[in-house]
Amino acid sequence: MELKSIPFNKPYLSGNELAYILEAVQSGKISGNGLFTKKCHRFFEQQYQFKKCLLTTSCTDALEMAAILINIKSGDEVIVPSYTFVSTANAFVLRGAKIVFCDSGKNNPNLDVELIEGLITKNTIAIVAVHYAGTACDMDAILQIAKKYGLFVIEDAAQAIDSFYKGRRLGSIGHLAAFSFHETKNIQCGEGGMLVINDDQFIKRAEIIWEKGTNRSAFFSGETDKYNWVDIGSSFLPSDLNAAFLFAQLENLKLIQKKRLHIWERYFLKLSELATKGLIRIPNIPEYATKNGHLFYIICRNTEVRAGLISFLKKRGILSVFHYLSLHNSVFYISKYEGRTLINADNYSNNLLRLPLYYELSDVDIDFIITSTKEFFDRRI
Ligand SMILES: Cc1ncc(COP(=O)(O)O)c(C=O)c1O
Repeated sequence: MELKSIPFNKPYLSGNELAYILEAVQSGKISGNGLFTKKCHRFFEQQYQFKKCLLTTSCTDALEMAAILINIKSGDEVIVPSYTFVSTANAFVLRGAKIVFCDSGKNNPNLDVELIEGLITKNTIAIVAVHYAGTACDMDAILQIAKKYGLFVIEDAAQAIDSFYKGRRLGSIGHLAAFSFHETKNIQCGEGGMLVINDDQFIKRAEIIWEKGTNRSAFFSGETDKYNWVDIGSSFLPSDLNAAFLFAQLENLKLIQKKRLHIWERYFLKLSELATKGLIRIPNIPEYATKNGHLFYIICRNTEVRAGLISFLKKRGILSVFHYLSLHNSVFYISKYEGRTLINADNYSNNLLRLPLYYELSDVDIDFIITSTKEFFDRRI
């Protein structure tokens, strides 16, 4: 039996990272908001037409900034999918919010928009739309509800770089959006993130919160002659070393995306046979959404099948991993949760499996993963 060593993820490197880090060092300024931070902001503001961007040390930090910006206070309610990463909820819990968990849809792990209205109370402040695997939530439906009840919409676009909803870039639709540049993401700088501000009312305050609650940005741009403590905030801005690393990746975004989409399509095409036989489900991309090659998942019939497949692939040197555990069932939240069953979130928690997907993954290795997956199911029939 052929034995390979195929990791689940391998961070992409363009080759220019160290050169740009050196350039940052030689510029004499490696703290936040330096030369490369500005280059990254410009990239997104010009090429992505995002109104205002602020690099952060993580997507978690960008979400925490969003929670501060919309003035979350004790007792406010925020609607969040249960099937998501901890930070989507934690950022708001840190400000005293009560999290109201919404189930995922039947067809994909994103929020089931049909359920949102039923979760709104007089205390609801915001809806957090997580674009799982880079697939857009139904933003028109979410925006319509938000408008009706006067709610903020925050896009958790951690996985959603270079993806679209009806031709609109993800991250440009909600009042605020948060991206991740963690090493598992399409473009990365180890740990990193970005807050996108699409609503003018938040821009000035966001710069202050970003700089520890001071008006340092305004001071350096000459807008004020005093540098003072003016609001709450934290150290949300990353070192320019991280920005230098990130910029080397951004320059290759098109190349990275082409390769990742190729891998995604190959999985999709070749595993559709198992889906047709009803042995697994493969991603369902709604007609309003695009894919961005962030991750490829399959959904097994039950947990036992998933565990069997993980161990079968592991014996062949292939690392496949499941994803989130529903947050309403988490150790931290279960005692605070009022008990509605979230069938779809639990289904994704128990049965969703992610296959390796990274820039360097060769066609030979993708085909080996696909053949091995098919063999696992052949043996079960
Ligand atoms: C949906 C979602 N939101 C937020 C995060 C947190 O991102 P970061 O690690 O950059 O803080 C993640 C992490 O993968 C995520 O999947």
